[in-house]
Formats: sequence, structure tokens, C-alpha cells
Amino acid sequence: MDKKFKRTLITSALPYANGPVHIGHLAGVYVPADIYARYLRLKGEEVLFVGGSDEHGVPVTIRAKKEGCTPQDVVDRYHNIIRKSFEDFGISFDVYSRTTSAIHHQFAADFFRKLYDDGKFIEMDSEQFFDEKEGQFLTDRNIRGECPRCHAQDAYGDQCEKCGATLSPEELINPYNADTGNPLVRKTTHHWYLPLNDYQPWLEDWILNQHKEWRPNVFGQCKSWLDGGLKPRAVTRDLNWGIPVPIEGVEGKVLYVWFDAPIGYISNTKELCEAQPERWGSWQKWWQDPESRLIHFIGKDNIVFHCIVFPSMLKAYGDGFILPENVPANEFLNLEGDKISTSKNWAVWLHEYLQDFPGKQDTLRYVLTANAPETKDNDFTWKDFQTRHNSELVAIFGNFVNRAVVLTHKYFGGEVPAPGQLQPIDREVLAQIPQLRSEIEDNLESFKFREALRSAMNLARLGNKYISDTEPWAVAKTDLQRTAAILNTSLQITASLAVAFAPFLPFSVEKLNHILNVEPIAWDDLGKADLLPVGHKLNKAELLFSKIEDAEIDKQMKRLEEIKAARLAAAAAAAPTVEPAKEACTFDEFGKMDIRTATVLAAERVPKTDKLLKLTIDTGLDQRVIVSGIAQYYTPEEMIGKQICILANLQPRVIRGIESKGMILMARQLDGKMRIVTPEERLANGATIG
Ligand code: MF3
Ligand code: ZN
Repeated sequence: MDKKFKRTLITSALPYANGPVHIGHLAGVYVPADIYARYLRLKGEEVLFVGGSDEHGVPVTIRAKKEGCTPQDVVDRYHNIIRKSFEDFGISFDVYSRTTSAIHHQFAADFFRKLYDDGKFIEMDSEQFFDEKEGQFLTDRNIRGECPRCHAQDAYGDQCEKCGATLSPEELINPYNADTGNPLVRKTTHHWYLPLNDYQPWLEDWILNQHKEWRPNVFGQCKSWLDGGLKPRAVTRDLNWGIPVPIEGVEGKVLYVWFDAPIGYISNTKELCEAQPERWGSWQKWWQDPESRLIHFIGKDNIVFHCIVFPSMLKAYGDGFILPENVPANEFLNLEGDKISTSKNWAVWLHEYLQDFPGKQDTLRYVLTANAPETKDNDFTWKDFQTRHNSELVAIFGNFVNRAVVLTHKYFGGEVPAPGQLQPIDREVLAQIPQLRSEIEDNLESFKFREALRSAMNLARLGNKYISDTEPWAVAKTDLQRTAAILNTSLQITASLAVAFAPFLPFSVEKLNHILNVEPIAWDDLGKADLLPVGHKLNKAELLFSKIEDAEIDKQMKRLEEIKAARLAAAAAAAPTVEPAKEACTFDEFGKMDIRTATVLAAERVPKTDKLLKLTIDTGLDQRVIVSGIAQYYTPEEMIGKQICILANLQPRVIRGIESKGMILMARQLDGKMRIVTPEERLANGATIG
């Protein structure tokens, strides 16, 4: 750790309290932040890990309206669900509060007011979208319309979910109120803006010159915002849900949710510090002392707010605040190849996961870290989940620990045996631990959590291979002293594993510590020679992990398949797709087709098929047979006597042994069903069509 700093303040994005949290949240933000916090604590560093719910914003009001309750009801419900999910998954926040708290309302209003009094805002009238029927201004997220890039019909005012384009509402074609469907008009309104352009040179120096070490995705996004030129950004909204704009005489306006939420990091710190001042000191110590190191864990859609907007707010406030040292933002996690979506219910919800896999929090933490979307979007699949659990956690880590402990009970009454004389193979395996330890450390300190986890698993792999190679169960038949050396070595590795995995798999490590009968071991003891002294008594062996069976995975896959099928069916019913246009044909090409009316004289099924009817028709020219694939849509009885249109000069073809001369004109409906095309009134057979 950089000697400049005495302590680390870790923040994780405040999740919107308008729905439960899913694996994407965990993988993108909370698991890495938690690993980092746990690691620093194990190293004995001073750490404060801040979380909380983001409870303002338009989506909360939309949800409340839909459910017929108040916005406060909505956020109360989800704040509790979310907080419980985080607790269940061992996300070790030092404080988890909320932006509807009185402390936050006061703090954020004061923050705004200071910037206002110091003349840091500009005021402007602008045209915003307005729903005349509802008498309501709409914010970006509440406006939908056609995407100007990909022409999806339901792009949001700030982003198109289909093509990913970042948008502003004015760019949408035919904007409408996402909630009511009402068309929108523009209307003038007055707002306060933070002139980000004033901070541009300062931001350029701070990010582009001083933070080249940030992840390429983060640095790149910042650079592209800066290259594009920053503009003033409104920090207030026309809305009734949020923190009222603290200016006399202003009504019906609140602070923009992205103005108040990041201030929530500070007010939540303040709440904690005021509750336990002896433990945590003052909030200023964490936020205004240059020896505090601030790290923001976020998802990629939050980068601009944490790297550009919030730092500019802090800068505008005065020189008192520290700025983030790093912003390790993750890309997105997909689920079985599709984007996770709350509205489409395409997600694995944390509270539901725990019902299906009770006690398996660490498995999810493990899989999400092993597969973390650190440098690119990544995919969560249930098969991969099962494989990683069964062939890594169970077969490597769990298996090794279990063998070491069970054999110690079997041969040495559960007491750590004296190692006696170590052999080269023992010394070699022990000598590899410091190397793996420093790999884990280097990776954790540079926010490469998946690599760090891989190194930890390599330590387990090393132990597992060692115990397989040395076969203490076989050696025990002839040489109990040698068995003692092998088991002592294995147990020391096991104790190191209890440290190496502690940031990643807190529940399993707690279990392991219990089996080993030790208190949590400090990070600096990882790899120490006598972590478990000779004669130390172990508790009895328990399995760290139990196998996940195919049936459990099949159940999850089936659930997703059902959701997808329901969505596809609903989509097909709501928005049937029209066949794209064919390429142009010439008049002559069309003129070659002999299309005419005819009447069906006889009809029968073609034996052994369920699609084909054999029709005998009168074309005016002749009587002929046509074989047609319409048996799914018409019975032979229905067809007899019907007037139809045919392509009469199509080259004859033999179908199922029957010569078919021509083709019936059919219309394919948008749902795929076929209907015959028939003249509006009965015509003579052989009337030409063209
Ligand atoms: N609620 C936002 C989201 O989920 C994140 C807010 S982070 C904060 O995308 F900094 F504003 F708190
Ligand atoms: Zn688009």
C-alpha cells in the first residue's frame, strides 16, 4: 500500500431501492468491494466500507404509481430486502444507510445550498418534455421513444438498451411518456446547473495526467467525455419525490438524484461516525484528510458520475474533500447470453438464489469472482456455476482440506503431528506459498480480483496435488513418522488456505477456522511455518462444500427457459414483425407469371403427411392437380368449392409421387398462419390476375 495513505475509505454504488438486487449487482460492485475491504482489514489496515440505498429518482415514483402506494412505501420495502440480501451474502459494510434518512436530507440540502450561496451554479430556462394530460415534466428515464441510431421503438431518454447508445431525450423520435404512453410536448422550466465546463482543465490534469493507471475502460470513458467537451449539467429536476431545492420560494423541484446520491456516501459516513465517534472518529477524517484514500466500486454505467460529476461537485465545494484514488468500475454481467434486465425478469435474484441454494453464498461469490466482468462483459451460466462448484470448490479446495483433517483424526487422534524430518517434496511445496501469496496481494492491490482468486485456488491445487502425490493413507501402513510429516505439511497449507480464501469465501473460511479450531488468522501469517503448532487439537472434519446435482441446475435452467418463452410469446403477440421487403423486380419479370382464378373441385389429404392436401382444380383452361401445404390451416371439406388464385405456369413438380401443376396463392399472417387469397366476388375460372 502506498505510504502516503493511512486509511482507506471504500464506497460501493448505492443501489436504487426500486427492486431487489441480482447477481449483476453482486458481481459488478459488491463482491469486489467486499473482497477488498476484507483483505485490508485482514492486513490490519484502517478501513471504512460505506454502502446504502439510493432512494430518490423517477423509477421509484413510477413503481409507486403502478403499485398504488407511496414512494416511501416502495423504498422502505426494497431497502430492507436489499440490505438483507447484502447481509446474507456477507457484504461487510461498516454502514448501510439510505438517502431518505434525515441526516442525508439535511447534509445534501446544505451541500447544495453552499454551492448556491458561493455562486457555483448557473441558472437557466430550458425546454423540457411535458405530459400535458398529466400536468407533469418528465425526466430522462421516464421518456421513451424511437432510438435515432438503431430505431428500436422503446429507447430511454438517456440510453437505448438495444444498441447501448447514450442519448439525450431531444434525440428521440416521437417521444412519449414511458408510464402513460402519452405523447410529449416541450415546455419551458427553470433549473440550476453545475458548469462542468469550468472544471474541464482541472479534470483533464487530474485524470488524464495523474491517473493513467486507472483501468482502461474507466480511463477511456473519462477521456472520451473530456474530449467531447463538458457542458453545464442540471442538478435539479421538476419532481415531487426527492430532496426539495433549498431555495426560498422554489416549489415542486428537487435535487437531481445523481446530485444527492453520491453525497450519500458522505452522509452515511457521518451517520456512522456520529453514532460511534470513539470507534470511527469524525466523518471529516475520512473525507477531508489527504491521508485517507478513497476508492469507488461501481458498474460501468456510473463512471461519468464518479469520475467527472461528483469530483467536480467536491471541487466546487472547496478544497476540503479528497478525490478518489481509483474507481475500479466493472463491465456488465450477462445471464445465459442475454443482458440482465429487471423489467424482463431476466436475472438471478439474490433472495431467490438463497432459497434454492441455502448456505451456498460462497459458491456464488466464487463463481462471480472467477468470472468477474473486469475487462469485458461476461456471461453467467448455470452450467459454469455447477462446474466451478463441483470441480473446483468441492474437488480441489474441499477435498484437500477434508483429506488432511480426516487423516489427522484417523492416525493422530485429531492432533497436529510433529513433522520430524521434512523431505525435499515437503519443503518445495511449502516454499511455493510465499510466491502465491504475493501473487494474491499484487492482484488484489491492483483490483484484479479474478486473478487473485485464481492464485488462491492454485494454493489449494498445490495442496491437493501434494497429498495425492505423497499418499499419506498408503504410507501410514508402513511409516507413521513419514505420515506425520506429510500431514503436518498438509495442515500448514490448510491453515494458509484459511487466510488466502478469507477475503473471497468468508462463510467457508469461518467453517474452516472452526474445523482447524483457530481464531481468524491475520493476513501477514499466510505461509508462516507453524501456523498450527504441534499437538494443536483439531475439531472434527466437516465437508466445506457439498456437490451440486444436475437436477438443481436443470431446475434453474427450466425457470429461465420459461421466462424466455413467456417473453417471446408476449413479444410476438404485441409486436409481430413484418417480413422485410424483397429486392425490386422488373415489369417483365412480373409479367411472366400466369396468375389466374380457379375453383377447387376435389380435395383429399396426401397419405402419411400432415401438411399436404391434393387438390383437383378447374382453371378455366383445364382440370389439374395441385399439391399444397395447407392441411394445417384448411380441411379438405372446407376447400371443396372454394375459389382460389393460382400461379398456373409454375414448372410442374412431383411431390410424394403426385405431379403438382402450379401453386396456390396464400397470405402468411404475421403470426405465421396461412390463409388462401380469394377474389372479392366469385369470378369465372381462368380470369387472369396482374
Ligand atoms: N443508484 C445508482 C445505480 O444503481 C448508483 C448510485 S451511486 C451514487 O446505478 F454514487 F450515486 F451513490
Ligand atoms: Zn438504439
